[in-house]
Amino acid sequence: MITFNQWIQPTFNDESPKRLFHLKNDKQSILIMCDRMPSIIYWGKRLRDLNSSVIAVELKDNETISKEQQALLNLLQALSRPVAQGGLDDYIPLTLCPEASTGLYTSPGIEGHRSGQAWAPMFQPVSADYVESDHTEKLVCQLVDEHAQLALEITLTFYTQSGVLQKDIAVTNIGCDNYQVNKLANTLPIFEEPSQLTSFHGRWCQEMQKMVQPITRKSLLQENRRGKTSLEYFPGVIISKCEATELSGDVIGFHLAWSGNHQFMVHVETDNKRFLQANELLMPGEIILSAGMRYQAPSLYATLSSDGFNGMSHNFHHFVRSQLVKFADNTPVRPVHLNTWEGIYFDHNPTYLLQMAHKAAELGIERFIIDDGWFIGRKDDKRALGDWFVDKHKYPDGLTPIIQAVNSLGMQFGIWVEPEMISLDSELYKKHPEWLLGLDGYKQPSGRYQFVLNLQIEACFNYVFERLDALLTEYNINYLKWDMNRDLVQPAHLGVAAISKQTQQVYRLIDKLRQAHPSIEIESCASGGGRIDFEILKRTQRFWASDCNDALERQTIQRHLSYFFPPEILGTHIGAAISHSTFRQHSLNFRAVTAMFGHMGIEFDPLKSSDEEISQLKHYLSLHKQYRSLLHTGKCYRLDSIDPAQVIHAVSDSDHCIVSIAQIAMPSFSLPPMLKLAFLEPVNNYRIECIELPTNCGHLMKKWPQWLMPSILEKDDNQIALSINTNVKPMILSGELLASIGIALPILDPETAMLLKFTKQPVLS
Ligand code: DGJ
Repeated sequence: MITFNQWIQPTFNDESPKRLFHLKNDKQSILIMCDRMPSIIYWGKRLRDLNSSVIAVELKDNETISKEQQALLNLLQALSRPVAQGGLDDYIPLTLCPEASTGLYTSPGIEGHRSGQAWAPMFQPVSADYVESDHTEKLVCQLVDEHAQLALEITLTFYTQSGVLQKDIAVTNIGCDNYQVNKLANTLPIFEEPSQLTSFHGRWCQEMQKMVQPITRKSLLQENRRGKTSLEYFPGVIISKCEATELSGDVIGFHLAWSGNHQFMVHVETDNKRFLQANELLMPGEIILSAGMRYQAPSLYATLSSDGFNGMSHNFHHFVRSQLVKFADNTPVRPVHLNTWEGIYFDHNPTYLLQMAHKAAELGIERFIIDDGWFIGRKDDKRALGDWFVDKHKYPDGLTPIIQAVNSLGMQFGIWVEPEMISLDSELYKKHPEWLLGLDGYKQPSGRYQFVLNLQIEACFNYVFERLDALLTEYNINYLKWDMNRDLVQPAHLGVAAISKQTQQVYRLIDKLRQAHPSIEIESCASGGGRIDFEILKRTQRFWASDCNDALERQTIQRHLSYFFPPEILGTHIGAAISHSTFRQHSLNFRAVTAMFGHMGIEFDPLKSSDEEISQLKHYLSLHKQYRSLLHTGKCYRLDSIDPAQVIHAVSDSDHCIVSIAQIAMPSFSLPPMLKLAFLEPVNNYRIECIELPTNCGHLMKKWPQWLMPSILEKDDNQIALSINTNVKPMILSGELLASIGIALPILDPETAMLLKFTKQPVLS
């Protein structure tokens, strides 16, 4: 009879019980060995032979081994590694918090010291508790190092419906002297097989640009030091096996839920241990724990999929929808916006706004938002931030008349704020220059001519809260566009680095405001997409994806955001025909189809539009409304294309599927590739309809694809009139044929797009 402890080589000579925990759903198994510091010994496809959540690794002598224990025994034997010559005499496993003291020559999960002491802790287990509730399986491990006088808590929470794993880590100072935390990271293993790292960089008006790098040796590092989530480095990465595609292959997505500085590292050790580490990037002295104090690191969310990048996104989307976002009216079907920024900028005039509101209502707008420029003295971006009082020169009767008009036209009212900021040219600065976040004695550069408020000063925090609270109490405001337009320089409170605490205070401010006004919805905006992350999403309902409303740039930005976020939380607006940020010109077709799938809106002055544009706009907004319950709740698919200039995106539920095909540059081939949809049900039949075609589409073809031809009406003069003929019998194909053969597409001009609709047909008995 073999007992487990006879053959597992204990790494450490301690008496602690060894237990194995199994977090799982239909698709994934995560096995965590708790002998000393817990480690994930397996993370992959569901192991069918293991069903228990807690399995004892040590058996008493002569105890009979169950089938499950035998399976575990086999697995552990298979996993037991040799020890190589030329190094330490024991195999040192990768744990959930690598410690410098163990001989794991890699980036530690915890770094810090107590006046030079306690710099290399080695923790011993105290408890490991498994709790199951409400579609979550949770493992909480408590550890302690009595020499370093530190307690560590590591928590793994597995959301079984979405397949998302949340990893948390916290350290508590159980000693008397201060302990300085330099780093506390969440560490998770990654694939041993050849893989690549996908990360996202960006800049103002060009967020979420994708970069793919092979993972070979040593470390890959991403650092954000901007003091907010940033336009530059998105706090999420994807690790995929080299053969993975959008629809197949093994992929793990990681997201650090934090709106301040961060670090992501991918390590490959000489013995091929591979892992990812993500943490808040702390400045020197930023976190000093006095006796009894605890530092909780930002949560790392991760999800593994064997169904390619789309599978990973489905898990994240499900998680965001079920766990993170709470809409005020509990409906994910989002009201269509008109935001005034690019329409009128700072030029607020209530009479004109009233006319805009009437036009907006006529178009079918459901929420009318006045952007920057409504408060006292705010005639441009050089002044007045902090003075959150309605400008009586612009609005002699306050905001009530415009809000009442907007409401009586059946629309909600929203307003722009930038609460964390202060302008030097403001009443607030005259009264409280000491509230400016900075290092005393040093000059700091302004950003967009403005500075940041130190929210750690309680009086300052209270002032900002009081102003926002007064605004929301006095007026019927349903929505705040919460902006944040500069990076932090010298962020310090009483001389001590303060990015971490400033970030926590922003969360506290929003939380307090939402507590006082539970029905308010908030958009997280930071010069566009500079504060997009899961932690801010717990307290907001929408991201402004980019200040760039150019549909061509938006195709890329929105596609890459879709790796992590479902479309209904991404603000996607139709901008002016000539983009304000790029001066490119696009048809309404391309602008509208690009904005169609997200939380749609318009970002221009409709009073300046021609009658023809207005009637087209009405058409697009009503098309969006017709399909938005599908678009805002369905499963999203990014489809690969052999033509890099073709961007295809689909949203589907059990009965319908809408597909957008955008041609973002000249087609690479003279004929477009067949459109294949591999995610529909093979046994069902689908009716295929074209619901949107670009104006003037057709001049690149002598003949249209046969299935599409009957729905196009040709004009006498050989021009194409693109009203779609709804009287003809649409084509019907099985899901199987749509996956294997697909359908031919028309040739599209660069910077145009089309929409197709697939409807499941009733099965005839
Ligand atoms: C930056 C935002 O991203 C814009 O949408 C707009 O709200 C301006 N700020 C207003 O100042």
